[in-house]
Amino acid sequence: MVVAGRRNPPRSGGPAVGRLAAGTRRLVPGALRRDPRDCWAAVFGRIAGYSFAVAVVTGVLLLPFFRPSMATAAYHGSYRKLDGVPVSQAYQSVLAISFDVRGGLLIRQVHHWSADLFVAATCLRLLRVFFRGRFSGRALPDWLIWVTLLPLGMVAAYTGTILPDDGLSGGSLGVDTGVLLSVPVIGTHLVFWIFGGAPPGHQIIGRDYWVHILVLPALAGALLLAAFRPPLRRPRRVRPDPLLPLTCAVLVLLGTIAQINPVWLIGPYQPGSITSGAVPDWYMGFLDGPLRLMPAWELTLAGHPLSLGVLIAGLVPPGLFFTALALYPIADRRITGGRPPRGLLPPVPADPANRTAAGVAGITWYGLLWAAAANDEIAYHLHIPLYTVTWIFRVLVLAGPALAFLLTRVICHALADQRRDEELHGRETGRIVRNTQGGYDEIREPAHRAALPSADPPGPATARQILEGGPMPWTGRA
Ligand code: HEM
Repeated sequence: MVVAGRRNPPRSGGPAVGRLAAGTRRLVPGALRRDPRDCWAAVFGRIAGYSFAVAVVTGVLLLPFFRPSMATAAYHGSYRKLDGVPVSQAYQSVLAISFDVRGGLLIRQVHHWSADLFVAATCLRLLRVFFRGRFSGRALPDWLIWVTLLPLGMVAAYTGTILPDDGLSGGSLGVDTGVLLSVPVIGTHLVFWIFGGAPPGHQIIGRDYWVHILVLPALAGALLLAAFRPPLRRPRRVRPDPLLPLTCAVLVLLGTIAQINPVWLIGPYQPGSITSGAVPDWYMGFLDGPLRLMPAWELTLAGHPLSLGVLIAGLVPPGLFFTALALYPIADRRITGGRPPRGLLPPVPADPANRTAAGVAGITWYGLLWAAAANDEIAYHLHIPLYTVTWIFRVLVLAGPALAFLLTRVICHALADQRRDEELHGRETGRIVRNTQGGYDEIREPAHRAALPSADPPGPATARQILEGGPMPWTGRA
C-alpha cells in the first residue's frame, strides 16, 4: 500500500515555491561547507568580496554621468525645490543621476549599500576569526589582510560620500580639516597640500575622485585577491557560488526599497551651514564619538596652540583600535596564557576566556564610542541635558571595557563549570525523585554534546602526561 503523500508530498506553495525552497535547502549548506576550517568566516569574507565587486561594477556605471568639478552654476533641473540655487557641477550631476538618468538612483543606492555591506561583512569576518582564535601561524597574513581591508573599505566609502559635494560631504570635510589642523607643525601644510590651498578650495572633489575611483579600489582589490588566493597544493575547482547571486540580490533589493544618502534633502554644501539630523554612515560613528566626548583641552607650547581636544580625539582612538587589531595575535599568547610552559608548573595557566573577554571589552569600547556619536539625539529624545549625556558617556567609555572584560570572564567560567558538571554528572532533567533515605534526587541523563575547547583553566597535569611528555592541558593543545 502506498501511503498518501509519501511519494508525492503535498506542496503548500505550488511547484515553483517548492523548487525554490528545495534549492535553498541544498545551496545554503553547500555555501557554508566550502571552507572546512571555518565556514562562517569564509561566508563573511566572500560576501565582502562580492559586495566589493558590486561596488566596482556600479561605480563604473556611475562614471559617465558624474562630474568631479566644484565649478558652480545655478541649478535648473528636475528637482524644483532647488531651482535657481547655486550648486557645484558634482552636486548637479548627482541630482541628475538620481532624477534624470534612467535607473540612476537605483545604481547610486546599490553602490552605496554595497559599500556598507562590504564594511559590515569585513567586521563580521574579523569578529568570527578573533573569537575562534584563528589568527596566528599560517593564518596571520590573512588576519592582517582583513585588518587592513577594514580601514581601507571605510576610507573608500568615505571618499565616495565626499564626491556628491552636498552638505554632509562638506561637513565631513570640515571635521577632517579640524583634525588635520590640530596636528602640530605639519597640520596646516598638510591641509593646504590636500585641499590645494585654503579649504574648501576648488580642487578637493577632483582630487578625491581619483583617490576614490583608482587608488583605493586598486589597493583593496589587490588585498582581496591576496585573501582569496587559491591554495597551492589542492587542485582548483571552480564551482558557481550561490552567495554571489544572493549578495547581488540583497543589494539590489536594498537599493530598491531602502533610501540611502538622499543628497537633495540635505542640500548643496555651503560653508557655514550644516544640516541638522544628517548622520554619517554607520561605520564612521566610532570616529565621531570621541570628538564629541573629549573635553576642549588646549595647551600653548612655545607660543603655538596645541588643540589636544581635537588631536587626541581625532587620531588616538582610530590609531589605537586598528593597531590593537593588527597586533593582537602577538599579544594573544600572553593574554590567554597559551604559551608552552617552561617548567612543569607554568605561572599563568591557559585561559581562552581571557580572549573572549578582551574581544567583548573591545566591542564595548567601540559600541560606546559609536553610541556617543548620537549624544545629541539621545539627549533630545530622552529629555536629558546634553552635558549629562556626554558625562555619562565619558565615564562609560573609560569604565565600560574593564567591566565588560570582568563580566565576560565570569560568564565564560560559569559556562565552563556548567559544561564540566554536565560532562561528569549528566544533564539535569528537572525530574525530582524521592530516594530510599527519604531525601530527594534529581534524575540526570547523559549529556550528548561534542567536546568543546574549555574556556576554563584546566586542572593540573596528570602524572602520566608529565611522564610521557605529551602536550600539557594548559597549552590548549592537548
Ligand atoms: C572602480 C571602483 C569605483 C568607482 C568607479 C566608483 C565611482 C563612484 C562615483 C562616480 C561616485 C559618485 C556618484 C554618486 O555619488 O552618486 C561614487 C560614490 C560613492 N562610492 Fe564609489 N566607486 C568605486 C568604488 C567604490 C568602493 C570600493 C566603495 C566602498 C567600498 C565605494 C563607495 C562609494 C560611496 C559610499 C559613494 C557615495 C554614493 C552616494 O552618492 O550615495 N565606491 N563612486
